[in-house]
Amino acid sequence: MKPFLLVSLLASLAYASPHSSDCRCRPHQSCWPSPKEWNALNRSVDGNLVAVRPVAAVCHDGGAESEACRAVQALWSNSTWRAAQPGAVQYENWEAWPEQNQYCHIQTAFDQPCEQGRISLYSTLATSAADIQKTVRFAKGRNLRLAIKNSGHCFLGRSTAPESLQILTNGMKDIEFVNDFKLKGAPRGRGEGPAVTIAAGVSLQELYHALAEKKRVAVAGAAHTVGAAGGYIQGGGHSFLGPWKGMASDNALQFTVVTADGDLVVANEYQHPDLFWALRGGGGGTFGVVVDVTLRTFDEVPVIVSNLNVSTPAGHPDFWDAMTEFHAHLSGLNDAGGAGYYYIIPQLPWIGNASISGLTVGLMFPNQTDTAKVDRVFAPLLTKLKESPAVTTQYASILLPDIATLVSDVLITGDSDSTGNIVLIGSRLFSRDLLVSEDGPKRLISTLKSLQWVAGAAATGHIVAGGAVAQNDQIIDSAIHPAWREAATHITIGHAWDPNASLAEQEAIRENLTNVEVELLRSVEGPNKMGAYLNEANAYEKDFQSSFWGSNYPRLYAIKQKWDPTGLFITRSGVGSEDWDAEGLCRVKGDHCGR
Ligand SMILES: Cc1cc2nc3c(=O)[nH]c(=O)nc-3n(C[C@H](O)[C@H](O)[C@H](O)COP(=O)(O)OP(=O)(O)OC[C@H]3O[C@@H](n4cnc5c(N)ncnc54)[C@H](O)[C@@H]3O)c2cc1C
Ligand SMILES: *[C@@H]1O[C@H](CO)[C@@H](O)[C@H](O)[C@H]1NC(C)=O
Ligand SMILES: *[C@@H]1O[C@H](CO)[C@@H](O)[C@H](O)[C@H]1NC(C)=O
Ligand SMILES: *[C@@H]1O[C@H](CO)[C@@H](O)[C@H](O)[C@H]1NC(C)=O
Ligand SMILES: *[C@@H]1O[C@H](CO)[C@@H](O)[C@H](O)[C@H]1NC(C)=O
Ligand SMILES: *[C@@H]1O[C@H](CO)[C@@H](O)[C@H](O)[C@H]1NC(C)=O
Ligand SMILES: *[C@@H]1O[C@H](CO)[C@@H](O)[C@H](O)[C@H]1NC(C)=O
Ligand SMILES: *[C@@H]1O[C@H](CO)[C@@H](O)[C@H](O)[C@H]1NC(C)=O
Repeated sequence: MKPFLLVSLLASLAYASPHSSDCRCRPHQSCWPSPKEWNALNRSVDGNLVAVRPVAAVCHDGGAESEACRAVQALWSNSTWRAAQPGAVQYENWEAWPEQNQYCHIQTAFDQPCEQGRISLYSTLATSAADIQKTVRFAKGRNLRLAIKNSGHCFLGRSTAPESLQILTNGMKDIEFVNDFKLKGAPRGRGEGPAVTIAAGVSLQELYHALAEKKRVAVAGAAHTVGAAGGYIQGGGHSFLGPWKGMASDNALQFTVVTADGDLVVANEYQHPDLFWALRGGGGGTFGVVVDVTLRTFDEVPVIVSNLNVSTPAGHPDFWDAMTEFHAHLSGLNDAGGAGYYYIIPQLPWIGNASISGLTVGLMFPNQTDTAKVDRVFAPLLTKLKESPAVTTQYASILLPDIATLVSDVLITGDSDSTGNIVLIGSRLFSRDLLVSEDGPKRLISTLKSLQWVAGAAATGHIVAGGAVAQNDQIIDSAIHPAWREAATHITIGHAWDPNASLAEQEAIRENLTNVEVELLRSVEGPNKMGAYLNEANAYEKDFQSSFWGSNYPRLYAIKQKWDPTGLFITRSGVGSEDWDAEGLCRVKGDHCGR
């Protein structure tokens, strides 16, 4: 690390109170653009600028009985609709601004006014790189808080910001396949093989539909409306195909990006390699606005899907022993090519008044056809589980003809995710070393057991590393937390609250998650071993720089200073966000002139 960088990192620990000149321009101030200036921006983006209100506004202020309100109520939990709305994100808690008592929900009384909360005031519904460039230059020139929203799925609230100008990328849907992709700036003749270039607003389900038509496969996530080119891939992008082909970001070949200066640049291993490195895992909304990304594609292959269910009467001690056994066998399943997800639900309401403790596991084995072989991999675990009479197990494996069928019939059925609720999550990556150690699985499980589990609450496990993700440690140099290369599982927990919960109630949940629960998870392997996935983590993560990026943080911070010295692109717990207050409105450290 260069000495000047160390100094600037140390300086970031000092908290200075902001001067008004260190703050963004706000609506009540004279610096705020006049209607004439907004009109000029609007003309420059071909009339794609809109003034924004929260989506539930039509139900408040006397509109409770209106047709528009009924439509919003019907679509409230439809993620495809939410993704396209400038006045919504996927989780209501990031639309509200509880610290300012600003809410606009459909669950709360309609006779109360609709407050803007963290919903942007204006949005450019971008259709081209030029729309994005014009908006970036406008925001930078007027010192406005800028927000970039794609699908609005971010669990950490990175796609909303109060009193901001938004760029909505969701409408940019181009998808283009090529047989032999040539990187810009590459030596003549050299090709990277088959690839697909997707525009900023392409959702995972749109990508999968296009891939299925072409009988191609790309590494992507398990959701309908998460944005493939947005926060997903820029945060690293984990996948059920990861152990087979690497992280989604390991398979990104090139990005087209609008920089903080409003320039359009291409970043790949030959051009702007520092930006290319940062965009693969450094986090969305931080280094520029991605216009499109090119991903490697692979041939279609058959896939085996296995499903294991484990249950006991609720709270039976043998349940936790079974969870320990499962984790002790997990790296073996992963070594055999298994990847996927599992849900541990300690208190699951069941038939009648009964409650059970349950685990359900779905593991995929891409490019494998012998189910008997997969069954043999599960056999030792099943034998162990059957030793307890309290434990009930169900197991099956089936062969599917291709990844497209797996996606359409098993992983992402229907046409949207169910959202429009409130959620705050916490998470941790756990290493393969832990799970293969003698007492590791037991330590992990006794920690999970010690958490408080309300009815229906789950710990979600993601077996999305190992295999190619681990092997790429030697092949891919990118910004993802190095812990990904050592990880065996990524476990998330979550909390919800009522839309009418008081600020104090919300803060109590936040505090306990941050200071008790995530700390317990962190303590399993100690503070400096492993980390957390920046896209699926606590929004208030302590020491987020090291949790999300580990030893890569200083390099990321330096690249951020180079490409965005004035801090136009700031997101919650994102690279460089420590220089700003929680909402990215006022600078709290560093030089506001960006020198
Ligand atoms: C139901 C669900 C399933 C998920 N499944 C997976 C999964 O399988 N694997 C996985 O790895 N993650 C998964 N995630 C997490 C997901 O990767 C993150 O929520 C991610 O931030 C979503 O990116 P987005 O662009 O769609 O969301 P947004 O909330 O719109 O954006 C997220 C961040 O990226 C920025 N951003 C968006 N677009 C751009 C752009 N074009 N240029 C620059 N910055 C941009 C935003 O400013 C924000 O900071 C899942 C999340 C949900 C809710
Ligand atoms: C931008 O222009 C379009 C088309 O002229 C218009 O419909 C829209 O209302 C304008 N937006 C704003 C914020 O004035
Ligand atoms: C969700 O919204 C999308 C876009 O508005 C719409 O096409 C789709 O039919 C809706 N789905 C459901 C289940 O209502
Ligand atoms: C699938 O496996 C076969 C044989 O093991 C191999 O030749 C082929 O390259 C694999 N396909 C992909 C897309 O990795
Ligand atoms: C559920 O519990 C109630 C009260 O304890 C009891 O009356 C009822 O019969 C129970 N129902 C079942 C299906 O066990
Ligand atoms: C596991 O449980 C789910 C939900 O109850 C069920 O649909 C599935 O068939 C079960 N799996 C097996 C192998 O029985
Ligand atoms: C904090 O979390 C722990 C672990 O989940 C739980 O036991 C405890 O009750 C929580 N405390 C509060 C005040 O919510
Ligand atoms: C909040 O709403 C829930 C129902 O969603 C209700 O049970 C509860 O009484 C409400 N609390 C307050 C403080 O209004």
